[in-house]
Amino acid sequence: MYMKVFIETYGCQMNFADSDEMFLHLSARGAVRTDTLEDADAVLINTCTVRDHAEHRALSFLGRLMKWKRQNPSRIIIFTGCAAQRLGERLKKRYPFLNILCGAKDIEQFSQRLDQSGLFNAPGTPAPASSGLSAYATIMRGCDFACTYCIVPSVRGPVKCLPAQTILADVSAKAARGAKEITLLGQTVNAYRDGNVTFADLLNRVSDIPGVERVRFTSPHPIYFTPDFLNAVKHNPKIARHAHIPVQSGSSEVLKAMKRGYTRELFLEKIDALKACGFSVSTDIIVGFPTETEQDFEQTLSLVDRAGFMTAYCFKYSPRQGTPAAQMKLLSQNILEKRLAILLNKVRGLADASYQAQIGTVQEVLMETPHKGRSSSNYWVDFKESYPVGSVVKTTIEKAAGTLLYARETHGK
Ligand code: SAH
Ligand code: SF4
Ligand code: F3S
Repeated sequence: MYMKVFIETYGCQMNFADSDEMFLHLSARGAVRTDTLEDADAVLINTCTVRDHAEHRALSFLGRLMKWKRQNPSRIIIFTGCAAQRLGERLKKRYPFLNILCGAKDIEQFSQRLDQSGLFNAPGTPAPASSGLSAYATIMRGCDFACTYCIVPSVRGPVKCLPAQTILADVSAKAARGAKEITLLGQTVNAYRDGNVTFADLLNRVSDIPGVERVRFTSPHPIYFTPDFLNAVKHNPKIARHAHIPVQSGSSEVLKAMKRGYTRELFLEKIDALKACGFSVSTDIIVGFPTETEQDFEQTLSLVDRAGFMTAYCFKYSPRQGTPAAQMKLLSQNILEKRLAILLNKVRGLADASYQAQIGTVQEVLMETPHKGRSSSNYWVDFKESYPVGSVVKTTIEKAAGTLLYARETHGK
């Protein structure tokens, strides 16, 4: 009998990729995945702590599992990731029914943790089923920045880039299982370097792997969009024309207090250069950083007007214990709520404008169903004609409606 594992993941794509990796270690010990908690013999909770809310969600799920475990005490609970790293051994006191704890810094030791627990001994085969059209490849772990609001460096540790050879082997295996689109992952993914191999080199090498049609990456840091990168983009159509580039604030003063390492002007310069290469850009914004004045917030609003983002994820500042900003005096919740509402209202208007701006452009679309695919610039495109799933179709965008673009008809012309 196989052991069935239910996996719940919070947080960023890096965390989702880690969950897949941890599942491979479990499946090597005879476990299979289930989507039904009631059927599960084990639960893996891979957690996030970037904001208080994220950590709270993971802990409340863990709390609810107490009853699940009481129904059958041989059930296993595995708690991993960034909140597990932050809270550490304290968790075992508060939740004595936890079986295995593995913080984000120890993710590479997950396999040993399983062995040490003695709970997973069944022989199994690592069962990487078909990859699907899109697959992730982690290229670096950790972060060398010290943004004053951010807990990631403390829970993930300093940057460790995976050797280029390891990454290429990983991507080749995924491409052989059917992946056509690869997303390279890291907290400052474009800072990647392995000896002489730069991020631009890696993008080129990954896109040369047979079967790979498109390469995406997340999350890049604005300062690493170098001429070397732009040069790679100009010569390589497989590099997707979309980047999610967190700006955090439109005020140079706030950016300085956040220690982001760029000004409003430099950020705009970088995204203008990307847009000139056909990129669409999405972003993250934090409202209510402790030093943010009304004028600073106005600067964020005007940056959103100026930048032409396709979308923006907006967060209320959440103080994280141990970070420099947590020592500063908080703005009132009232101000945070008010600013978030104003910003969200503006952001709601972005999608329409950015979809309209795609009309008349020529896009390469990777078909995910016979009639629908995703453009290199990360928009859904609908076709009247049908194409094989996994093929890349070049088309002119004829119209935009809601969150969909429509391709010009080409068959029979
Ligand atoms: N490495 C990425 C961001 C990773 S964290 C980068 O530097 O661009 C994901 C997002 O969470 C950030 O972009 C930021 O907008 C948000 N975030 C991080 N810490 C936060 C905090 N303390 N309060 C609110 N939002 C935060
Ligand atoms: Fe956090 Fe800054 Fe590192 Fe991003 S670059 S993970 S925001 S410290
Ligand atoms: Fe969260 Fe950790 Fe990612 S704190 S955002 S899961 S790196």
